[in-house]
Amino acid sequence: MAGLRFSNQGQSLSPLLQAVEARLQEMGSDQAGALGVYAGHMIRAGGKRLRPLLVILCSGIDDPVCQPLIDIATAAELIHTASLIHDDILDQAATRRGIPTLNRLQGNHTAVLAGDLLFATAFGLLARAHCSGALAVMTDAIRDMCQAEIEQKEALFQFSVTEGMYLSRIEKKTASLLAACCSAGALAGGQAPEAVASLAAYGRNLGLCFQITDDLLDFTGDSATLGKPSGSDLAQGILTLPVIYLLNNIAFEQGSEIAIERHPTPNPDQARLQEIARQASTGGRGCSLHDQEYIKQAVCDSPTLSMAYRKALYFAQEAAGYLDGFAPEKSCTALLGLVDQVLQRHR
Ligand code: IPE
Ligand code: IPE
Ligand code: MG
Ligand code: MG
Repeated sequence: MAGLRFSNQGQSLSPLLQAVEARLQEMGSDQAGALGVYAGHMIRAGGKRLRPLLVILCSGIDDPVCQPLIDIATAAELIHTASLIHDDILDQAATRRGIPTLNRLQGNHTAVLAGDLLFATAFGLLARAHCSGALAVMTDAIRDMCQAEIEQKEALFQFSVTEGMYLSRIEKKTASLLAACCSAGALAGGQAPEAVASLAAYGRNLGLCFQITDDLLDFTGDSATLGKPSGSDLAQGILTLPVIYLLNNIAFEQGSEIAIERHPTPNPDQARLQEIARQASTGGRGCSLHDQEYIKQAVCDSPTLSMAYRKALYFAQEAAGYLDGFAPEKSCTALLGLVDQVLQRHR
């Protein structure tokens, strides 16, 4: 699935990333015990490998046999994969990375344990790397991801959710791990504290941009291209930025500091939307398929998708801004290139 990967500035995979990939394939092989047989299913399916790429690029290291860095980057991908396996159980998702999920093939019991095996293996690698800072940021990110999933569950079908609540949730759900990958790489590479902080801020903003674009793809993408179910957020009651904008009848103003203001003239459909929202949050916490379809159509017919994209663009610009102080070396150029790849991705 090499075609799915994020690239380091259009170059072929760096030797370090190749070493990480080889390690992942080894762990995910059928010969590698339970880890390989079960979790290996998802490892072998590929993925963009964004997290190990961030670890490597932020380290500034290009020694292809730097074992601690390979261990940390591999651990980052294992943590991500474990979170996906557990996420697919929570979301009852049937596909991921273009193949059936582990919960679909083996059931939740095995999938929970496969995710746990991956987490344990990742901690082993982080311990072996002797970089306590990397271990600390990774465990903080896992805590954030769990917290976000709990918040997301509590907010299902809560149409009163605000943009601020959404951003705070996706920061913990997605941006925190990307920031941790950047910090861990920078720490392993012995970067100065200010550089570590800037790279973490880059990763956090890239992560916010990444999740907003992912939530947009849930509306605009198709399941075959995405390799995972599209249209599932609303069906599950997860309210993302386009729906939040629609419900709040919010419009953006142009500008670098994107300002938000209320539409001066209410959208004629607002009364119906507000009624759907009222029923969803006061009744049995849900809305009918018919109402979901109505909301989806209203989102697609309104400027809310492009407004949400503008928000993603805002975080992309913020991310790029945190790279300003760095010399335009190969890895910095690649980090900048990743911002565009995240904005333009369609899977
Ligand atoms: C999926 O992440 C989970 C989200 C944060 C939306 P990716 O889109 O990076 O997943 P893979 O690794 O490429 O499969
Ligand atoms: C993915 O979240 C899991 C994490 C970011 C921890 P989602 O449920 O929003 O993403 P997909 O669409 O399944 O990849
Ligand atoms: Mg999911
Ligand atoms: Mg989920």
